[in-house]
Amino acid sequence: MNLFDVYPLYQVQPTRAKDVYVYDAQDNEYLDLYGGHAVISIGHSHPHYVKQIKSQLEQIAFYSNAIQNPLQQQLADAIGEHSCLHNYQLFLCNSGAEAIENALKLASFHTHKKRIIAFKNAFHGRTSAAVAVTDNLKINAPLNQQQAVTFLPFNDVTALEKELSKGDACAVIFEAIQGVGGLDEPSEEFVYVMEQLCKKYKTCLIADEVQAGFGRTGTFFAYQKYNINPHVVTMAKGMGNGFPIGGILVHPEIKASYGLLGTTFGGNHLACQASLAVLDVLKKERLQEKTLSLESHFRAGAEKIPEIKKIKGRGLMLGLKFDFEVGELRKKLIYDHHIFTGGSSNKNLIRILPPLTVQEHHIDSFFTALEKALTTI
Ligand SMILES: Cc1ncc(COP(=O)(O)O)c(C=O)c1O
Repeated sequence: MNLFDVYPLYQVQPTRAKDVYVYDAQDNEYLDLYGGHAVISIGHSHPHYVKQIKSQLEQIAFYSNAIQNPLQQQLADAIGEHSCLHNYQLFLCNSGAEAIENALKLASFHTHKKRIIAFKNAFHGRTSAAVAVTDNLKINAPLNQQQAVTFLPFNDVTALEKELSKGDACAVIFEAIQGVGGLDEPSEEFVYVMEQLCKKYKTCLIADEVQAGFGRTGTFFAYQKYNINPHVVTMAKGMGNGFPIGGILVHPEIKASYGLLGTTFGGNHLACQASLAVLDVLKKERLQEKTLSLESHFRAGAEKIPEIKKIKGRGLMLGLKFDFEVGELRKKLIYDHHIFTGGSSNKNLIRILPPLTVQEHHIDSFFTALEKALTTI
């Protein structure tokens, strides 16, 4: 049987990984500044993570949501402690897109409305409503295009109020730092006005933290740079360090009822244990705090390279903008210098999304390699 061929693949076949490195079968070492798309938060195969998952596997790996699973409450308490969102409620699922689906559905249940306002260049996933609020027609099938969605530019208060005042929007969904879109951020003023307008027009505000969440940007969630209270926060990726898990945090104003949301696999024992291990390590190794000094170090290195026209992002969710397309440069970094980086829908941008355990000397090696690679393209 053939694989359904939807991914253009690099010619690298990792067989093991440790911390910020990935190794192929010949034991060639690759520096992972991509983190498998912002997924690896505490480093590949962190010993505490491996130990927790292994010992959970020996006890019980899975049972459905029909039974008591105290690990879910432990995880809710730990996320509450890290995010300070103690009075929010946790619903667990399996991926980023599933978190978005549940967030949008909840907003629609809560407001009894159905149009969604999203932003230009947004990426929220590949499933039904998630892909409909993603600003990329190429990945929206006719089925998805049935959803009622309006895309607006960031920072256009007049356009936002005009749309919200129509009274039919259940949600405004935003990324505090756009991931796939290329690391653009709304202005601080716009974020506060957006929150106020959502309140005024009884529309839910959804912060999509699937990529930026769990400490990557220096605050636990990227939107927490601002003092706002979204109705729903979505999370996944770094939450499980590679173990599939997603979730939403729900504002206390939104009430649960039996059967409102549900999933077979979400919140299973192994997934909870993986995420608990991530939170243990984040705290013990102070990884969230360290992202800020690493960002400064990264910016200082980038400023020395004249070909870099702009440095974008925060913490360890960073981007380097060039005045040419970076596809060839990223290939050279992988094949000649053994460094993984990320791309984005902005073809001139390299994305840097390393495990949060990355150190200054890794960043230095990257810039040395980048300078060499730039001389050969
Ligand atoms: C901001 C954001 N939201 C949602 C998603 C979808 O997550 P998943 O691929 O786990 O479905 C992504 C994935 O890249 C993302 O970056």
